[in-house]
Amino acid sequence: MAGVTVSVRGLTKRFGERAVLRGLDLEIAPGEFVALLGRSGSGKSTLLKVLAGLDTDVTGEATVDGQVSVAFQQPRLLPWRRVWRNVVLGLHPAGGKNVGNKHVGDTNTAGRDVAVKALSEVRLADHADAWPRTLSGGEAQRVSLARALVREPDLLLLDEPFGALDALTRLAMHRLVEDLWQRHRPSVLLVTHDVDEALLLADRVLVLDEGHIAAEYRLTHARPRQLSDHIDVRARVLGDLGVTDRATA
Ligand SMILES: Nc1ncnc2c1ncn2[C@@H]1O[C@H](COP(=O)(O)OP(=O)(O)OP(=O)(O)O)[C@@H](O)[C@H]1O
Ligand SMILES: [Mg+2]
Repeated sequence: MAGVTVSVRGLTKRFGERAVLRGLDLEIAPGEFVALLGRSGSGKSTLLKVLAGLDTDVTGEATVDGQVSVAFQQPRLLPWRRVWRNVVLGLHPAGGKNVGNKHVGDTNTAGRDVAVKALSEVRLADHADAWPRTLSGGEAQRVSLARALVREPDLLLLDEPFGALDALTRLAMHRLVEDLWQRHRPSVLLVTHDVDEALLLADRVLVLDEGHIAAEYRLTHARPRQLSDHIDVRARVLGDLGVTDRATA
């Protein structure tokens, strides 16, 4: 469909007898930043796996127009590959070899250049030759973002990418993701448990419940946003999630 990056219609996903997604509909426009909230077990990661093409055992329709990249909550870096090789692992440049593979050798400067460019976007160029175990949690998460970006995605799927980070590092990551999004303009679907994160970053906030999109809010405040923006939406989203907001109760 023209003008749509993600088009999902009547998507149903069953695990045995249990339908986790039940006739879910969703559209995401090119360049749109969408945050997906929902209780634990509501099916958020399941939806992301379908959109990433990692789960095709579904009924209904789910199409993505263009290249998809995923960054998970755990960075999932291969410990036996240096940082730059993790960034380009499995990447196939036009007419080229698998630039992340070891057999290509350390003289693979083209692959390294691509990796270093992506790493510099997340301010980690100086860690290109480091081993993953020497990175902090936030640094590993930034490598994971670089690995997603290097694929120049039309759709960037982020599954709680900042969940394991401390509050200050999270704030820095919010600014980084906003900055990367504004420069590259992929469509983004960000799964998060953090309502404030959703309100700071997204154009639209969705709440997944009972297997479908149960609530939807458009956010109109200009960026960069303050926590005090969209305070009305905050209370409503917390209500949708069954949480009482101490600030407004
Ligand atoms: N491979 C699987 N086999 C059986 N059940 C599964 C499988 N994967 C997920 N489920 C179930 O589907 C439901 C939705 O899981 P999912 O991981 O999508 O939830 P989620 O919304 O991402 O939760 P969280 O916020 O805790 O990450 C859960 O009840 C889970 O147990
Ligand atoms: Mg999940």
